[in-house]
This record gives sequence, structure tokens and C-alpha cells, in this order.
Amino acid sequence: MPPEQSAQPRAARVSARSAVEPFHVMEVLKAAAARQRSHGDVLMLCAGQPSTPAPAVAREAAIGVLDSDVLGYTESSGILPLREAIAAHHRETSGIEVSPEDVIVFPGSSGAFTALFLAAFDTGDQVAMTRPGYPAYRNSLAALGCEVLELDCGPDTRFQPTVAMLEALPQPPAGLIVASPANPTGTVIDPDVLADLARWCEEHGTLLVSDEIYHGLSYGRATTSAWATSRAGVVVGSVSKYFSMTGWRVGWLLAPPSLRRPLEVLTGNLNICPPAIGQHAAIAALGPDARGELDGHRERYAANRELLLRRLPELGLRDYAPPDGAFYAWCDIGHLTQDSVAWCRDLLDDCGVALTPGVDFDTVEGHRKVRLSFAGSTTEVEEALDRMAASPLLQSP
Ligand SMILES: Cc1ncc(COP(=O)(O)O)c(C=O)c1O
Repeated sequence: MPPEQSAQPRAARVSARSAVEPFHVMEVLKAAAARQRSHGDVLMLCAGQPSTPAPAVAREAAIGVLDSDVLGYTESSGILPLREAIAAHHRETSGIEVSPEDVIVFPGSSGAFTALFLAAFDTGDQVAMTRPGYPAYRNSLAALGCEVLELDCGPDTRFQPTVAMLEALPQPPAGLIVASPANPTGTVIDPDVLADLARWCEEHGTLLVSDEIYHGLSYGRATTSAWATSRAGVVVGSVSKYFSMTGWRVGWLLAPPSLRRPLEVLTGNLNICPPAIGQHAAIAALGPDARGELDGHRERYAANRELLLRRLPELGLRDYAPPDGAFYAWCDIGHLTQDSVAWCRDLLDDCGVALTPGVDFDTVEGHRKVRLSFAGSTTEVEEALDRMAASPLLQSP
């Protein structure tokens, strides 16, 4: 060893901004993987993703371009045929006028959020979101130096924000994030409430970020797009959920003109471009030939949801958010525990069922909440419910 080289390299400096919360669900996944190795019996009701692969036509398209295309870098905002396909998809499903120029494609909607937060907000800006809500909004905004305002949303507003909540703030925030259908609650915002929020945000100079990545997955309640009311805000989309393509990393924004160039420049610097193979596969997934297969998945989620609605009360789980969409049930377990992380660990140990503790999604009430995902097969969901029914952890003390 040369004399100037010490045995222990000096630890690299770590930024203060990187001190954000981890995803606690990752701990559940790790424990579930260990249980699977030792017992081979894990039922995953903790995954926030479909249990199915990309639609067959998307996989065929991917195989085709592997042989025929260099698959090098693409335009940073995504290839034109994909932006055209996304625009057509929004026109068909939401009845809103969208052109390819409105669309910018990113590596997943997660990539879109990072670029958007950088493009739209400065350090110290206040951005409002729901509590409970998707934790990556909170954690990425915090890492970028924004102040997150958590709006306490409960059953009286379907766990969604309202204009009254914004009016109660000392000043209009720089941004408001709304997700419908939402994660973790699965609730769909009332179309009139979304329209009121969109108008209020436009009037008050608040950027409305409407996360619509679970559109296509609702069970009776209609979903509407924020762009149906105001195009001053941003709409977020992705192939991850309805299209069953989480790992392909393709998401997008519909952005108002002033944000387009900053977003393009930022994503060019941050990502160069979205994955080329994912973009080609996404074009096929957005086309008519994938529809039958994808609607089939939704029918399975609907059947699983019916099963849950029937059986949750039998398990003593009577207090849950209305599961209008996505593939989640957000349940109160306060009569069983005040430590949802330990309870989920114990449930996994007891019967091999993996649920997500609420602490990721709700910094105040999460210790008494769990999220069940019903994206798996109906047999798996049924078996998980049987095991839970037999577990002493579900028996009220
Ligand atoms: C509400 C919500 N938004 C965004 C994302 C990120 O999805 P992706 O980056 O795969 O598009 C997720 C993932 O679970 C989510 O639940």
C-alpha cells in the first residue's frame, strides 16, 4: 500500500438535501424476499404495480426494434410517433384537445416530476399535496429545497383536496399536486372539485400538477382530466399502471407553453432522453391492439376489489377509503396496533402475507394504517385473505 493511502478512505461528503425519508416499503420487500427464500410461501399484497407483463403487442414491438434499430439516444422530449400516440390517447380517453407539441416524454413519471419541480419551483417555494399521499412527491420536493404543505385530507372529502383547504392557507402556494385515482387511497376526485381547483389555481398563479397516471383504472366513478378545465396546469401520465409497463420507464407531461422549453432543456441535461426501447414498446401499448388485454387486467382488478369489499369486514377491517380506482385499499388498523411497521412485519412472519405499512404515505396517521394492493391474481388475493382471517394478528385484543 503506498504510504499516502490510508486503510479507510475518508468518507465522501453527503449533502444535507439528501437526508430524505427512505421508502419503508423497501424494508417490507426485503423481509418478504427473505421469507420467500426460507418458506417459499409469500403473497405480495404490497406491490404498487401490476403483476402482469407489458401487453403482447408492446413486447413484440420491443423485440422488433432490437433487431431493426440502433436504439441510440432519441430526442430528449421523446420520439414524435410516441408523442402523437400519447396525444391521441388523451383525446380519446379524456376528450381533451392535445397535440404532440403539448407532450414531453420522460423516464417514467418519476423522471417527469424531478424535471417539473426543477422547472417550476425555486428553493423555498411552497407546494401543497394531500396527506395521505404519494411519498416521492414530498421527498423529492424536500430534496430540492421546497417547503411541502401537507393538506390533511380525510373521508369527508374522499381524501382529496378542496378549494376551501387552499383558501385556508396564509397565501396561495406555488404548486398543488392532486392525484386521482390516488395512491395510497385509490380515491377519485369529484369532477366538480377538480374543476374548481383548476380554476382557483389558474386565478391564483398556483401551478396545478394533476397526476393522472392511474387513469384507466377506475371502478364506476368517472375520472376527468384537469386540462378539461384549465390548460395552465400540468397533467402527468405514464405507461406504468393501466398499461402494465412499470420497468420500461416511460412517463410524460402535458405542459403549458411557458414550461415546455425549460422542461426540455432540463430533461436533456438530467436524462438525455427516455429509454429508446421503452418508447417503441409504449407506442404499441397505446394503440388499439393492446386494449383487449389491458381491459382484461382491469376486469381482474375489479373482481379482486369486489372480493376485498366482501371480505374486509369479515376481517374486522371496516374503516377504509372508498377504493374508487387504482388497485389499493387503504385500511385503518388502529383497533389492532399503533405500530403498522411492526404489525406488517409480524403478519409476514405469521402467515407470509406482505402488506405496506401506512407510514410512507401518512406522516401523522400512518402508524395505524396499511395499504393492500389487489393487483395480483384473484387466487393470490383470496389465499391472502384466508390466511389473514386465520391470523391472530387480525383478532381485536
Ligand atoms: C401516484 C403516483 N405517481 C407517480 C408514480 C411513479 O410512477 P412511474 O415513475 O412508474 O411512472 C407512482 C408509482 O407508484 C404513483 O403511485
